[in-house]
Amino acid sequence: MYTNSSPTSLLLGILSILLSTHPHVIASQSPRDNGVRARSLSTCLLASGVRNFSMAGSPGYATIFDFSIQNLRFAAPGIRKPEAVVLPTSRRGLQRAVLCARSASLAIRVRSGGHSYEGQSYTVSGGVLDGKAPFVVIDLMNLNKVRVHAASATAWAESGATLGEVYHAVAHSSPSNRSSLALTAASCSTIGLGGHISGGGFGPVSRKFMLAADNVLDALLVDAVGRVLDRRAMGEDVFWAIRGGGGGSWGVVYAWKLRLVPVPDTVTVFTPRREGSVDAMAGLVYRWQFVGPALPDEFYLSASLTIGSSSSSSQEDRDLRNVAFTGLVLGPKEMAMSVLNERFPELGLAEAEVSEMSWVESAARLAGLSSVDELTSRVSKTKYYGKNKSDYVQRPISRDSLAAILRYLSDGPPAGYVTMDPYGGAMARLSATATPFPHRAGNLYALQYGVTWDSDAGEASVSARIQWLRSLYAYMTPHVSSNPRAAYVNYIDIDLMGFDESLGPVRLASSVSHARATWGAAYFTVENFDRLVRAKTRIDPANVFYNAQSIPLH
Ligand SMILES: Cc1cc2nc3c(=O)[nH]c(=O)nc-3n(C[C@H](O)[C@H](O)[C@H](O)COP(=O)(O)OP(=O)(O)OC[C@H]3O[C@@H](n4cnc5c(N)ncnc54)[C@H](O)[C@@H]3O)c2cc1C
Ligand SMILES: *[C@@H]1O[C@H](CO)[C@@H](O)[C@H](O)[C@H]1NC(C)=O
Ligand SMILES: *[C@@H]1O[C@H](CO)[C@@H](O)[C@H](O)[C@H]1NC(C)=O
Ligand SMILES: *[C@@H]1O[C@H](CO)[C@@H](O)[C@H](O)[C@H]1NC(C)=O
Repeated sequence: MYTNSSPTSLLLGILSILLSTHPHVIASQSPRDNGVRARSLSTCLLASGVRNFSMAGSPGYATIFDFSIQNLRFAAPGIRKPEAVVLPTSRRGLQRAVLCARSASLAIRVRSGGHSYEGQSYTVSGGVLDGKAPFVVIDLMNLNKVRVHAASATAWAESGATLGEVYHAVAHSSPSNRSSLALTAASCSTIGLGGHISGGGFGPVSRKFMLAADNVLDALLVDAVGRVLDRRAMGEDVFWAIRGGGGGSWGVVYAWKLRLVPVPDTVTVFTPRREGSVDAMAGLVYRWQFVGPALPDEFYLSASLTIGSSSSSSQEDRDLRNVAFTGLVLGPKEMAMSVLNERFPELGLAEAEVSEMSWVESAARLAGLSSVDELTSRVSKTKYYGKNKSDYVQRPISRDSLAAILRYLSDGPPAGYVTMDPYGGAMARLSATATPFPHRAGNLYALQYGVTWDSDAGEASVSARIQWLRSLYAYMTPHVSSNPRAAYVNYIDIDLMGFDESLGPVRLASSVSHARATWGAAYFTVENFDRLVRAKTRIDPANVFYNAQSIPLH
């Protein structure tokens, strides 16, 4: 039903035939060459009725290109920019954008919300072709429609919708604002649905309702030859792959059919912060490890530790640490208080610290917004310069080791932190091979380490921060998963490709065996990675959709 059948598909058909025999190879590039490609792109787009695009150098180009860059580290002038940003406004426009980019011999980057930690939706850095390929960004921000069908608790949402836009649409489809349907996904409201689901999608109700990707019922994928494929047409291997195998490998997911989940009218939110000596805080975190991952599915309680000492470098300050908790309970505050005070009395949760609200209000609150309507704003207030890394903890870390870790963090640069997200619950009851996301049973919590810096930080201070983050990662080795040392693809980390202290990230060709032994195993396990390679080889045999860590061909 989604194959080409209208007369306007003639052009697409012809282009498809041409392209399928013409693998995407980027040969030598000169500025003049790029000019030819750019002109050929704009001619093709105009001829196909795609009007909203911006060519490099034209007025408005920088505004539209920069708009969705979340990690400003990749907005630097030294980083290669696309020849054009194309913003399709319809499914057909999206198909044509893909075909026109290919016929102009431009590489493609697909961007939904632009939150990739490594800028993979709008740069060509870090990959095999390392910064040299002339490319185009297909930006989905105008494809953000959400159609909720409350009676069947489902929604079709275009990939360019932000999580906030989806949350708002879902909540307002209910008769009152005390919503009873929700989407399970992350707290940050400006994340794009496209990239988020492609990598899994963990959030505060995942222990109850699993990941965003676990709730995908169908999807429409625009493939490398411009066809639109639904679940049946793409086949179960590809449908499996697009739900957690990482974005940018398969084609462009135009839209997703989502299962919405039932939430109570009243939920409870709390964000208590505790401060004390290193030993006291190590004790609190030690206990959290047993509580957070084992609470009833309705409970989410994450912990966050700061990097760097709070202010001066006096010994007293360095010995004082704080732990910030974030809690969401799908239920009233009596339930939150009684369970937490029984299972985690050390937290000392007080009634004054908890607030009841609707689920959509909690979504706004946890996103740091001041109103529910702000969920629809695509303007990010959390842009940053930074680098993140991730780990999984499978056995509780000892109290002494936690104290040592807290002391180690004291020596770090300020403006960094470590987040501990509890896993378990329903997401751990799905098998590790049910989707590409394998971090199910046996994982207590995910660790995320992040450092940030200011716009005026010099090169030396930036590299000192990144080095420090890498040394923290090395320091954590005995405490986290091993063989493979696991990581979460939505927290994409180029270092996993191999890292050389003196040379920086090793730019190895993305051979299957290298990928399989490094980031492939870390993100997916070897078994899932091998299935992803098979799906990739089937859906995109010319490797049109690639980035530094896209799934390689057989
Ligand atoms: C502030 C912040 C908070 C975060 N919190 C969480 C969290 O709590 N839980 C969690 O799971 N993750 C979290 N993340 C990570 C986030 O889920 C990933 O970065 C996600 O990939 C972002 O999706 P995006 O569409 O915004 O990104 P983009 O940068 O647009 O895309 C990411 C990747 O997916 C590809 N892609 C994008 N759209 C499509 C599409 N339609 N079809 C095919 N490929 C596509 C891109 O090419 C790129 O490779 C957070 C990130 C940030 C910056
Ligand atoms: C193209 O889309 C962007 C983003 O929605 C919008 O700001 C801009 O006005 C559009 N331009 C045209 C020419 O339609
Ligand atoms: C729901 O919220 C919107 C704003 O978010 C408001 O305008 C509307 O009046 C509310 N409706 C009800 C029934 O409370
Ligand atoms: C990693 O990066 C994102 C983007 O700013 C941030 O929100 C997140 O909290 C960072 N760090 C940690 C430790 O989670």
